[in-house]
Amino acid sequence: MIDVRAELGSIALIFFLAGFVFAHDGHDHDHKPRKAEDAETYRPTVVPDRIVLTWSDDPATTQSVTWRTDATVEKAFAEIAIAEDGPKFRDSADRHSAKTVLYESNLGPAHYHSTTFTGLQPKTRYAYRVGDGVNWSEWNQFLTASDTPEPFSFVYFGDAQNDVKSMWSRVVREAYRDAPKAAFLLHAGDLVNDAHSDGEWGEWFYAGGHIHRMVPCVPTPGNHEYDPIIEDGLPTIEDYLSENWRPTFTLPENGPEGLEETAYWFDYQGARIVSLNSNRKIRQQAEWLGGVLENNPQEWTIVTFHHPIYSAKPERDNPHIRAAWQPIFDKYQVDIVLQGHDHSYARTGMVSAGENVPTGVTARSEEGGTVYVVSVSGPKMYDVDPQKFMRRVGEDTQLYQIIHVDGDELRYEARTAIGRLYDAFTLRKREGQVNEIIEQVPETPERRRPPEARDR
Ligand SMILES: [Fe+2]
Repeated sequence: MIDVRAELGSIALIFFLAGFVFAHDGHDHDHKPRKAEDAETYRPTVVPDRIVLTWSDDPATTQSVTWRTDATVEKAFAEIAIAEDGPKFRDSADRHSAKTVLYESNLGPAHYHSTTFTGLQPKTRYAYRVGDGVNWSEWNQFLTASDTPEPFSFVYFGDAQNDVKSMWSRVVREAYRDAPKAAFLLHAGDLVNDAHSDGEWGEWFYAGGHIHRMVPCVPTPGNHEYDPIIEDGLPTIEDYLSENWRPTFTLPENGPEGLEETAYWFDYQGARIVSLNSNRKIRQQAEWLGGVLENNPQEWTIVTFHHPIYSAKPERDNPHIRAAWQPIFDKYQVDIVLQGHDHSYARTGMVSAGENVPTGVTARSEEGGTVYVVSVSGPKMYDVDPQKFMRRVGEDTQLYQIIHVDGDELRYEARTAIGRLYDAFTLRKREGQVNEIIEQVPETPERRRPPEARDR
């Protein structure tokens, strides 16, 4: 017969001992995880990271790539071959020496390496890898552009900016799942919040991961890419372009002097893409832009910059930018302007400056030729105060936009972070007239904040 009391006694003893062991094994409630330091999480090594494709020249025949290692890697290379079905393409790879720059970020020194592959064949898939001859990246692939107009799609993001790893990752990855063949990813400024924070740039690369190695990036700087720098232990009065920007991205240097790699243009399969720097030298850029658009044989013209011509809230108005740039957009009938900054969604119909450019927001013509979009991809959210010429607005919504250029049509769709269609329209070219706009706004209600949640 079993002695029930003895059994219960032994079970109690086992629980007591187990509790004693756990309590003294670090598994108690007082356990405090250690916060990893950025300097540790985003430390460069000899293995290439932060690999990103960009263009600094013609997308049909060139491709630039930039990457990072620690500062012990003094000589770096990129290898490239026409990609093939089988693995033998490696035997015919060409090796290029990279240009290397030292960048001392707030987390320490790193080497940034870059190469521009030239003389490539249009519409051809290439494989490339980067490294020091011993430590290599994987072979990644990209597709050169056609040298004649052909249909393509690209993705446009408003500000990522805050909690980029935590909250922007899902957006860039959902966009990539939705438009995996996108020709490029365009970022309308405020990629990060703290311009010179290397940890934030580390988050941006974490979020995009291998996408940046396959799909070229077209970034324009926002106000958060400009911050004071520390000189002799003190912050400067003036803001400076993120010190990460130029080491990180290899971009065209065809802009006005002093705005290299922030104001630039390139052509892609029948479209001229222009990045303006809305932080600096606004009037000088107007003159430069006039020259870029005057001699533009492309059917479509797409312009991006950060501060909106038509803000989502009148108190966030940028009249000096509108006064300088909108007459140029009107004169050359820029088709669409892609912006950020307002942390909400606001998309106009076809507008032009009308009679009264500087005083602004309520005094424009609705018979114009340009659609203006403000969007946001990160989690920071502001209210909208909609103007009557806005066709779709939204609040508290992370978005990405997929834009398809196809002959005389441009199809636009804005999707929420979960891939839900939020806004859509089609632009159609008409001989000797401004574009026809075909509104395709979905039936779903406008996403607006409840009154108690609105900004003061
Ligand atoms: Fe922003």
